[in-house]
Amino acid sequence: MDSILVTGNGPLSGQIPIAGAKNACLTLMPATLLSEDPLTLTNAPRLSDIKTMTQLLQSLGAEVSSLQDGQVLAMSSHDLTSHTADYDIVRKMRASNLVLGPMLARLGQAVVSLPGGCAIGARPMDLHVEGLEALGAEIELKDGYLHAKALGGLKGAVHEMRFASVGATENIVMAATLAKGTTVLKNAAREPEIVDLVNCLRKMGAQIAGEGTSTIEIQGVDRLHGATHQVVSDRIELGTYMLVPAICGGEVELLGGRKSLVESFASKLEEAGVSISETAKGLKVSRKNGPVTSVDVITEPFPGFPTDLQAQMMALMCTAQGVSVLEERIFENRFMHAPELVRMGAQIEVHGGTAKVTGVDQLKGAPVMATDLRASVSLILAGLAAEGETTVSRVYHLDRGYEHVVGKLEGVGAKIERIKSQ
Ligand code: EPZ
Repeated sequence: MDSILVTGNGPLSGQIPIAGAKNACLTLMPATLLSEDPLTLTNAPRLSDIKTMTQLLQSLGAEVSSLQDGQVLAMSSHDLTSHTADYDIVRKMRASNLVLGPMLARLGQAVVSLPGGCAIGARPMDLHVEGLEALGAEIELKDGYLHAKALGGLKGAVHEMRFASVGATENIVMAATLAKGTTVLKNAAREPEIVDLVNCLRKMGAQIAGEGTSTIEIQGVDRLHGATHQVVSDRIELGTYMLVPAICGGEVELLGGRKSLVESFASKLEEAGVSISETAKGLKVSRKNGPVTSVDVITEPFPGFPTDLQAQMMALMCTAQGVSVLEERIFENRFMHAPELVRMGAQIEVHGGTAKVTGVDQLKGAPVMATDLRASVSLILAGLAAEGETTVSRVYHLDRGYEHVVGKLEGVGAKIERIKSQ
């Protein structure tokens, strides 16, 4: 297993390009299952998770070609040969469950493995099932697989979700595009990735309104046609790299970044003393005067503070002046980066879903281990600000959500290299 070696190197400056969003691409790709016509995605990120989704779609009989160095995905689901998403693929990546709604709507049946355990929480699929059952599907769990049927087709309905789940909203919205009649989805998730999905579905001929609000209305149609869609920028990659000048000092311009994608996060950074300004090419972030000030954070569904930036924000708070309290309200086990940061000299006390961080003057380099995608990059951020060398092991987690992380950070002056496993 490869590792990454980071050596603290003082303030960093330059430009970092922001890629297309992993979490948008992972829901846009299954949308191809809704139509016989081709769907092409541009600005696709080059990540191992995208390769896994490609593998899954191909296992169902879809054609997926990766073009232009992987930034264009040309897909066609004209001749699907299977409606079973196999455990061997699903266990590698939970987002595989986003084929359930589209297959059910298009084929009238779908068999999807339950993903199983996850490092950051139980992550059940009950909200997906409830929503699809409201559209008339019959779903039963057998041998670890969800068997879903709607042989007579799905029917529009009014459904209120018990929690604004991102994945359940995406599955239900995609399924409802081909249902008979109108679906009104209440307490829907409002994430930018859902807005991007709806923009693409509309290009395919879907009739949808209300995306980005808590109520989404979908008027079912008989069929969807092909389209070409540009994947929205990755707000989590953007937020992650906004923290580079915040934690090390310096000034970085994030090319393709938009403040509207990260409002709640940006306002917390500004509260901590970081300056953020919009440029013609994106966002400029700088910290020139001394360490940041501690701020408190509570993770919430969009437009609240994103849970996918909590670990990275904790790394910053480890170097802040004062005490900060971070509350994780989305996932029940998302502080596994804390003990690794403590190995680097941080002062963190975790009690259930709350972490109290007392800032220290200087982190110290140490060998640490990545436990999940966002935890891995928080350790790299800490390593950039630490004295000496930090070795982050198990970086396969990182490859799932960050393309060219070593190259992008080297580009702003970081001392960082990937150590290939023997
Ligand atoms: C999406 O996961 C993202 N993944 C996650 O990003 C992100 O952390 C999460 O949304 C929240 O923003 C993708 O888009 C591929 P949820 P998802 O359904 O859809 C509970 C990353 O780092 N829940 O909104 O799985 C669930 O257990 C990843 O890129 C149920 O109880 O998130 C969790 O506690 C990690 N029943 C909460 O809701 C359900 O049926 C939020 O989950 C579904 C969810």
